[in-house]
Amino acid sequence: LVWNHVLMNEGPQISPSGLPPTVDWAGDHAVIIDQTLLPAELRLVAIRTVDEMIAAIKRLAVRGAPAIGVAGAMGVAVAAIAAEREGRPVAWVHLEADRLAVARPTAVNLRWAVERVRPAIEFGAPAVVAAALAIRDADIASGMAVAARAADLVIDLCGTPVNVQTHCNAGSLACAEVGSALSVVRALHFRGALGVVHVDETRPLLQGARLTAYEMNALGVNYRVQVDGAGPSAIRLGLVNCVLIGADRIAANGDVCNKVGSYPLALAAARAGIPFVVVAPESTLDPMTPDGTAIEVEERSEDEVLLWGDRHICPPGARAWNPAFDVTPADLVSAVVTEARVIRPNRGERL
Ligand code: MRU
Repeated sequence: LVWNHVLMNEGPQISPSGLPPTVDWAGDHAVIIDQTLLPAELRLVAIRTVDEMIAAIKRLAVRGAPAIGVAGAMGVAVAAIAAEREGRPVAWVHLEADRLAVARPTAVNLRWAVERVRPAIEFGAPAVVAAALAIRDADIASGMAVAARAADLVIDLCGTPVNVQTHCNAGSLACAEVGSALSVVRALHFRGALGVVHVDETRPLLQGARLTAYEMNALGVNYRVQVDGAGPSAIRLGLVNCVLIGADRIAANGDVCNKVGSYPLALAAARAGIPFVVVAPESTLDPMTPDGTAIEVEERSEDEVLLWGDRHICPPGARAWNPAFDVTPADLVSAVVTEARVIRPNRGERL
C-alpha cells in the first residue's frame, strides 16, 4: 500500500522507511530531503536551478549513489525547463548537463543518469522530465527487486538469524525511495530472519550514525551503532555473520568502490570466513572501467576530518587525508546482487 503512489505517480507521500521520498519531482522543480540536517530535522528543500542541485550534491544534502543519479537527471530537467522559460538554446542545456555529471566524481550513477536523459533534451522539457521520472521509478523498482533476491542469498549463505554488519548508508535515503543493502535488512526483518544490525558510525560525515540509525529506528529493528574501528572486531568475535553494504561503482572485474572503511570489513570478513555481500542497482555497475585502480576516488575537504562540528580537534597546522571512498578487491567480494542477477567476483565472475 505504501508504495502505491509510486505506481500511480501521486506525488510526495511516505516511503516504506516512513520517510518522504529522498528525491522527488513537483511539477517544475525537484524536492530533496536535506540529509545534512538529519536526524535532528526532516526538512524538504525545493531545487529550482542547476546551481542549487550541484550545491546540494556537493555538500551531501542529497547523497548515495542511486540518489545522486536521480538528482542529476532531475537537474537536467530543471535546466530544460529554465531553457524554455528563458529562451536559451538546446546547447546550453547540454552544458548544464555536463556540469551536473561531474558534481561528484566517484558514483557512476550520476554520470550514467545524466547521459541517460541527455537524448531527451532535443525533444524539449516534458521529454526530459519524463526521462528523469523513469530513472527514479526504475531505481525504486530496483530496490524492491533486489531485496528479495539478496535476502534469499544471504539466508542461504549465513542461515538464520542473520546478524548484519553494515557501513555508511545504503538505505532509502541513499536511493530514490527504497534502498539497496538496507532494503535487504528490511526484507530479512519482515521474514523474521534478522538478528542484530551493527552500524558503523561512518566518519567523518556520520552517515551510519545519523542516517542508517535513523532508518533502523524507524523500522524497529535491533541495531547497535559502533565506531568504524570496531567493525573488524565485531566480525572476528562472531557478533555478525554477514557484511551487507552498497556501492558507488563496481568495475568490470568486480572490484567494489564504496564508502571509505568498507575495505577493512572485507578483509575481516575474508579472515573470518563470512560473506561480504554488495547490494546495488545495475546502474552502479561500470563495465567500461576495467578495475578499481581506474576509479577516481573523491577527496573531500580536510576540514571534515580536522573539525568536530565547528571545533578544531587537531593541533594547529595538522593536515588531513580525506578520501570519501575505498576500493575492495574483487577476490574479497562474495557476491554483488542487483535487481537482475547475482555475480560472484571472488569466483572470478566479471560483470
Ligand atoms: O558520500 P556518500 O554518502 O554519498 O557515500 C555513499 C555510499 O558510500 C553508499 O554506501 C553508496 O552510495 C551506496 S548507496 C545505495
